[in-house]
Amino acid sequence: MVGELTPVPVDPARADRDFWSRYHVLRRMRLSEMFPDDPVEPDDVTETRMKQDNPFDRNYYFEVSRDGVMLGWLSGEHPTPRNAEYETNKHLFWGDVYVRPEDRRKRIGARLVGAAARAMDELGATVLGLTATHDAAHAFVSWLGATAKLREVESRLKLAEVDWEMMRRWVEDGHKRSPETRLEIYDGALPESLWEKFAEQRTILLNTMPFEDLDIGQIIVTPERMRDYLERAAATGEVLHNVITWEPDGSISGMTDITWAAYRRTLIEQQFTGVRPDARGRGLGKWIKAAMVLHVRDLYPDAEWIVTGNAGTNAPMLKINRTMGFKPYRTHVDYQVARDLLEARLGAR
Ligand SMILES: CC(C)(COP(=O)(O)OP(=O)(O)OC[C@H]1O[C@@H](n2cnc3c(N)ncnc32)[C@H](O)[C@@H]1OP(=O)(O)O)[C@@H](O)C(=O)NCCC(=O)NCCS
Repeated sequence: MVGELTPVPVDPARADRDFWSRYHVLRRMRLSEMFPDDPVEPDDVTETRMKQDNPFDRNYYFEVSRDGVMLGWLSGEHPTPRNAEYETNKHLFWGDVYVRPEDRRKRIGARLVGAAARAMDELGATVLGLTATHDAAHAFVSWLGATAKLREVESRLKLAEVDWEMMRRWVEDGHKRSPETRLEIYDGALPESLWEKFAEQRTILLNTMPFEDLDIGQIIVTPERMRDYLERAAATGEVLHNVITWEPDGSISGMTDITWAAYRRTLIEQQFTGVRPDARGRGLGKWIKAAMVLHVRDLYPDAEWIVTGNAGTNAPMLKINRTMGFKPYRTHVDYQVARDLLEARLGAR
């Protein structure tokens, strides 16, 4: 019995149909428990996504299955040496665990974390990161000895409740306060001629985000990584839209981007919004957010929600979001634990 509950590594590129059948059952179970309001990613999209080669981040997967039924699953991520972030992030391993409700409290979650710990040993990774949203997960990660490091508030904007007049005003004020600044909207992949400037500025802006107590290295966006990301997004039907403000000297002062997919037409994801520190206080944040929401309404009249996440301490971003009508939906807490501390619980070495 115990032997049957041993985590087994999975390589999606080589997995057979039986694997996918039992995986999709567990995946749907997880989605209906963890994301009950959200559209489900279709099986073929998931398979394409998981089979994709990712030269910059390596994914690790482990399953615990019995009699053709998947009881638990762990996915993990670690940067590859080709990733410019490798040097400052190679000690970090990010994981996500799920155990089907009727098989909880049997140490399946613990065994899966043990498998991740062994993968970490091979990589020389020393810190495991896990995100908890629900009570069971908080209890589990605390039992593992992990510490809460970053609180991320997921907020949602109901498009039917947006004050469109205020959004138009924010756009007008943006123009007025920065008459020399040019706002551009890009539908689909950003033109390659802009990648270098965009990657450079996005790297700077992403590193200005508050990460509270999280152990995190540098975030580095490069044109090479952008190409890879855009190719992978295209293969799974993700459509991107960017709003960028340009200064007269040709530099980027602000950016925000969203993704849309056919299977989740009702729910738009807003990924990152940032304004260069020296351009803050001019209403650019409100301008780009308002321009994007007005654009979304024109482009996707059947969209119902925009969802976004911010550190709970990101006061300026939260202020703009709350004024627009984004409401807190739930809080995700990123925990981290030193690999060595896991030893006491898992004895995994
Ligand atoms: C979190 C989760 C993966 C735990 O899986 P599991 O197989 O039930 O966990 P384990 O049996 O290995 O638990 C080990 C210890 O963690 C603690 N623990 C786990 N779940 C708990 C709960 N619901 N309440 C209190 N303590 C809990 C206990 O101390 C437990 O040991 P015990 O049962 O001997 O008291 C599972 O509840 C789950 O899938 N939740 C939904 C997915 C999720 O939130 N994932 C994010 C996790 S990082």
